[in-house]
Amino acid sequence: MSPFFSKGKPARLGFMISGAGSNMQAILKAIEAKHLRAKPVMVFSDKKDAKGLVRAAKFKVPFQTFSPKDFSSRNAYEREIAALFQKSEVDLIICAGYMRVLHQPVLQAFPHKILNIHPSLLPSFPGLKAQRQAIEAGVKISGCTVHFVDEGVDTGPIIAQSAVAVKPGDTEETLAKRILKAEHALYWRAIDAVLKGS
Ligand code: GAR
Repeated sequence: MSPFFSKGKPARLGFMISGAGSNMQAILKAIEAKHLRAKPVMVFSDKKDAKGLVRAAKFKVPFQTFSPKDFSSRNAYEREIAALFQKSEVDLIICAGYMRVLHQPVLQAFPHKILNIHPSLLPSFPGLKAQRQAIEAGVKISGCTVHFVDEGVDTGPIIAQSAVAVKPGDTEETLAKRILKAEHALYWRAIDAVLKGS
């Protein structure tokens, strides 16, 4: 990877969320603390009532929300997302609990510029309910993965991973909470590595 963002202006980040936005918040805090050199410029949510939008507002990051239901087709919906991030001159898109698969309109507009975090050690347990999948498989170690987004479901090149113990008696909820803590420590560091080309 070339360090194409390391010199000059801070990279402009666009976020995609669907829910609580705690990963986004951890990244915004890392930026505020100057641990991560980047500028958050736009947050998009497909859910109008996402709690993460309140968090975006607290950090004074502009946000927009619309849903596929507002459009005649999935492609039209995604073209609008791509246009939103292009208008905001986003360098890197950060998916942080955005619970839909991305397709060509967004992927083509931002080739190799979209990151995602997933709550398992990929390639194990892609898709929905990764923590439940881990409990049901009986693994003793799970974790989280930051990866580039491609057209598959959680299949893009892996950037960073963090391992988390699965403890006896863990439920989906207790494991999810432990993994989420690891996600918050991992994501901004992975973004930093991408921006520095390391
Ligand atoms: C996180 O655990 C993230 O890894 C997961 O949703 C949660 C979002 O939490 N994402 C996926 O499962 C994507 N396939 P947050 O909204 O508090 O950041």
